[in-house]
Amino acid sequence: MTHPVLTALGLTELESGTYLGSSQWSTTRDAGVLESISPTDGSLLARVQASSQEDYETIVERAQAAYKVWRTTPAPRRGEAIRLCAEALRQHKDALGSLVALEMGKSKPEGDGEVQEMIDIGDFAVGLSRQLYGLTMHSERPGHRMYEQWHPIGLVGIISAFNFPVAVWAWNSFVAAVCGDISIWKPSPKTPLSAIASMKICNEALKAGGFPDIFFLFNDAGSDLAQAFVDDRRIPLISFTGSTKVGRMVGERVARRMGRSLLELGGNNAIIVDPSADLKLAIPAIVFGAVGTAGQRCTTTRRLFVHESIYDDVLGKLVTAYKQVEGKIGDPIDPANLMGPLNSRDAVQAYLDAIERAKAQGGKVETGGAALDRPGNFVLPAIVTGLTNDAEVVQTETFAPILYVMKYSSLDEAIELQNAVPQGLSSSIFTTNLKAAEQFLSAAGSDCGIANVNIGTSGAEIGGAFGGEKETGGGRESGSDAWKAYMRRQTNTINYSDALPLAQGIKFDL
Ligand code: UN1
Repeated sequence: MTHPVLTALGLTELESGTYLGSSQWSTTRDAGVLESISPTDGSLLARVQASSQEDYETIVERAQAAYKVWRTTPAPRRGEAIRLCAEALRQHKDALGSLVALEMGKSKPEGDGEVQEMIDIGDFAVGLSRQLYGLTMHSERPGHRMYEQWHPIGLVGIISAFNFPVAVWAWNSFVAAVCGDISIWKPSPKTPLSAIASMKICNEALKAGGFPDIFFLFNDAGSDLAQAFVDDRRIPLISFTGSTKVGRMVGERVARRMGRSLLELGGNNAIIVDPSADLKLAIPAIVFGAVGTAGQRCTTTRRLFVHESIYDDVLGKLVTAYKQVEGKIGDPIDPANLMGPLNSRDAVQAYLDAIERAKAQGGKVETGGAALDRPGNFVLPAIVTGLTNDAEVVQTETFAPILYVMKYSSLDEAIELQNAVPQGLSSSIFTTNLKAAEQFLSAAGSDCGIANVNIGTSGAEIGGAFGGEKETGGGRESGSDAWKAYMRRQTNTINYSDALPLAQGIKFDL
């Protein structure tokens, strides 16, 4: 029987994974099948027909044709298209939020929150459509005017991960759309239904509003199409969200063809709790950061540095809070639960392996550390102490709820430790000491793309630029001026005089 959450969104037990444009979903039946498995009980939610090479070619050709029209459509008109998408998402927020919870395994409030991020970036993109500003410069030559303008870049390839199966697509595709680009999406093979539902909602809204196709979708049963996508010279920008290992490959391959890549890779995010911290804020922030989305955000809090003077107090309070969470682990669709399952069996295994390695490297498991003996991919969130920051397991991002708690004695030391990992995504400090906060945010402070004071590492708002340094990949998406990644800059110099003075005062008299 089709799950009611699927029915609410008009999805059936067998879906096409390819949106070809012109309201057509591919009828390909011989390119493999993706199975969407419920992480809550291991049941099959639906099957998705993967895309063929021919489907992919059709998509790219239609996207190229669509781009020729879209690039000269006035940007505010493009904004109207996204306004309609955001409106449609508002209407389907509850249903789509439930589907994200069901298929990915995050809690219902977090599933709804993810759809809210889509709506918010939609609103942001609508405003942006009237603000794609370039600068005007003063020319060094008389009778000359110099300025820059931003043109669309063309086709944008989006490869997204299972943990934010819909919001990351919206961050990219909505901003790209107002910039004048056409996007092609390859979602995670673990969450194809959330992708199909999002495409249906948005494409129907676009069609009803009289807009052309600006979003395409394909699903890959293996990795052949994804590799062709990354190597495809017709796609000037590839935006990839996922592991550092795969992201490195994507970045190298796109660079080889002189394409542009936007990489959102792993994080190994830390919170520092200094002696002046307000623990009423710090404890819930740490727990949400470490346990929210069952530790499967790239912004999840994975390391905690606590000043030695308050270490025992903080650790005790955290263990108590974790015990409360343990009573609220279960079906993510039930809004009473704080934590759902991990997304896959492999993730459970990676969690158990990390716990074993942590113990072997000298760590002590203070709470959690085991899988739950029930159907689905449920684990207990874990706190591990007794390891140093340079332990292999602490240096590695395990996509699961494991928090390594460590002691420090000076802020200089804590900042150095927080920076001493290969990744550089998100970071925060809990302090009421102005000097400590400013030091943490200074050029000699956190080396991450995101640095917060008195809020946790995860749950960034869409208005800021999202992304990080080092092995996080350097990309920035979402708010601020991240739109520039989806456009090409053109510098224009216009001579309105009767002379031809050369720049730098060069004389070239014929
Ligand atoms: C991700 O984990 O891939 O800041 C993105 C956050 C969310 C986005 C996370 N707004 O946690």
